[in-house]
Amino acid sequence: MEPNEQPDTAFAPHASSAPVTTASAATAAAAAAAPRPYILPVDEEEDRRLDAQHDLLRDALGSDFACPLGWADAAPPRNVLDVGCGTGRWMRRAAERFPTADIVGLDLRPPTPREALPPEIARRCLFAFADLLAPLPLRDARFDYVHQRFLFAAVPAARWPGLLGELARVTRPGGWIELVEGGIAAPAPGETAPAPCVTALSAWTERLCLRRGIDLALPARLPGLLARDPRVRVAAACAIPIPLGAAFGGGGLGARAAENWLSARHHLRGAVLRAGLADADEYDAALAAAPAELAAVRCVWRIYVCYGQRRGDA
Ligand SMILES: C[S@@+](CC[C@H](N)C(=O)[O-])C[C@H]1O[C@@H](n2cnc3c(N)ncnc32)[C@H](O)[C@@H]1O
Repeated sequence: MEPNEQPDTAFAPHASSAPVTTASAATAAAAAAAPRPYILPVDEEEDRRLDAQHDLLRDALGSDFACPLGWADAAPPRNVLDVGCGTGRWMRRAAERFPTADIVGLDLRPPTPREALPPEIARRCLFAFADLLAPLPLRDARFDYVHQRFLFAAVPAARWPGLLGELARVTRPGGWIELVEGGIAAPAPGETAPAPCVTALSAWTERLCLRRGIDLALPARLPGLLARDPRVRVAAACAIPIPLGAAFGGGGLGARAAENWLSARHHLRGAVLRAGLADADEYDAALAAAPAELAAVRCVWRIYVCYGQRRGDA
């Protein structure tokens, strides 16, 4: 670590699920408990959903990595940052894919890998406790590859420019920034059958987010926001619709996406009810009817992928 970075105590190998036992633990616990805009709970069930979502995204997008690292660049990355690393599943994949890289996962909760990591992987996976809505406690130009996935339900619209600026700051000139975010589930273009329960569940999520300043339509505008930073050249951006439910046929991916999406709606139930956006009966009725709806009506969930390279001269 460099002298201007956060104390080493913020970093701990994540192979162990033991809590950080340094003097910073109390501070970390208090900071982790402070109210944050993020709408989903942090618990074991949600961790299982996040891991399933990781596998789903890999299968839908064809890879865990979008930007052309390893073939466009002569040298493989040595320092990789995963912002909002969650359970750490992507970190493990990055450590396997880039065998000489250190992978730093930044989050308000330590990673919780389901299986013990091989020692050689664990040694290179580090955890940084930090709030991504504050200046990142990491020095300028520290990383070759900065990855951030599915923070759309955690970052208020007004905070995106500052966060993207921080991602650019910690990326070295020539290094890459990759963003993978999700959008709102909706009937597919051209679908004429209504999906009232899916629409209602989506609308409750959207309203919950809006109460916290989060705009679920924003991920579609991320390439433009990233391009506003003069230090970054946006190299690619696309919106990839994932089938949500088995109504498109082919079962597999759509059924898994529907299961994951519905599981997130279950996990959001408490927050929606506490916010007074729905009463328990109407929310539960929508949840109960949504699986049949997703099996019959063609719905999609858009994933937004964009990556850019930090300019060499900025
Ligand atoms: C939907 S999960 C995505 C996890 C991981 N990127 C993935 O794709 O599996 C969002 C993660 O962001 C973290 N998070 C939310 N708000 C945060 C904040 N203000 N600072 C740091 N991490 C935050 C949560 O703890 C959670 O682990």
